Amino acid sequence: MPLLAIESTCDETAAAVISRSREVLSSVVATQEQLHARWRGVVPEVASRAHVERIIPVIDEAVERAGITKGDIEGVGVAVRPGLVGSLLVGLSAGKAIAAALGVPIVGYDHILAHLYACRLAYGDRFTYPCVGLVASGGHTSLFHVRGPLDAERLGGTIDDAAGEAFDKAASLLGLGYPGGPEIERAAAGGDPKAHRLPRPLATDRDRLDMSFSGLKTALRYLVRPPHSVVDVPPPVGRPLADLAASFQQAVVDSILAKVDLAIDRTGCRAVAVGGGVAANTLLRESLEAFGRRRRVAVFVPPRSLCTDNAAMGAIAWERLERGDDDGFALDVTPGTDRAAGARAGSRVFP
Ligand code: KG4
Ligand code: ZN
Repeated sequence: MPLLAIESTCDETAAAVISRSREVLSSVVATQEQLHARWRGVVPEVASRAHVERIIPVIDEAVERAGITKGDIEGVGVAVRPGLVGSLLVGLSAGKAIAAALGVPIVGYDHILAHLYACRLAYGDRFTYPCVGLVASGGHTSLFHVRGPLDAERLGGTIDDAAGEAFDKAASLLGLGYPGGPEIERAAAGGDPKAHRLPRPLATDRDRLDMSFSGLKTALRYLVRPPHSVVDVPPPVGRPLADLAASFQQAVVDSILAKVDLAIDRTGCRAVAVGGGVAANTLLRESLEAFGRRRRVAVFVPPRSLCTDNAAMGAIAWERLERGDDDGFALDVTPGTDRAAGARAGSRVFP
């Protein structure tokens, strides 16, 4: 009997049906990219309204595609943190209604740990703990010492923008669309990653596992439009655009890799688990794989569809259902970023 997982932390409305053996029977993702594209970023109120419209059709489709009926559902898992409060509440309300109607348990799960759990789905028993966890997405960029599916200690991460947010803002500066990651990646093809010397803040600081991306964004801004310029500069095209995009992308990847390297040294782990939308980036994926070969550590990077937001990774809820947990009607959301949601350096993300 399967689990119904529901995900509505940000701008993706998603539901999945997963068997106890962690087989994904269906996974439906309704993206809101089109809705937010004109703002070049997620507008929280627009996101929660769209979740309200879509959540029931998305759940119904997941149930239908899995070839089951709602009565077959054994438990409900809902991503309850971190995220946008209005968005989170929509998924939680739908999950509670279904669990109450069916008389089955409901458990909340952490969206960041779920991103890492995607490695368990993709690699099965080949993926083992402990490992270093890297989650890089639009809302968070963090490193963890992961000791088990529900046991991760935050080691550090961005002190300002998330990596995905930096991609989104850089794309906007370069006159590209939203979401920015894939746009920058496309624009960077054929560009010279060494064309511009962009900063890698904190990358050489071996004392801390923190990262920073906002200075990089400002540096790019000044390359595109010189400081004190009063005239509107048209966005770059052709080779100049490719060089800027490639240099920016390389700087983000270098910044991340420097801290993954340090996290391996600090923890002594021999494996890295990677998740989040930015892990869909080809340069990052290839650089992580090369890093793994060089440092002789196993690198687990799920397929792209399991990196960007989805509910299949909500399979992590089985880890709680299997031990008999039921959060019941008191289950609530914890909005904010992963840092705000309790994952400060040195703290455990989940009990
Ligand atoms: O994990 P995700 O789908 O949602 C959040 O939890 O935030 O991540 C979305 C972020 C966006 O900022 C997007 O620009 C970035 O992931 N992203 C990428 C790529 N695909 C998505 N960044 C770099 N390269 C990509 N190919
Ligand atoms: Zn995410």
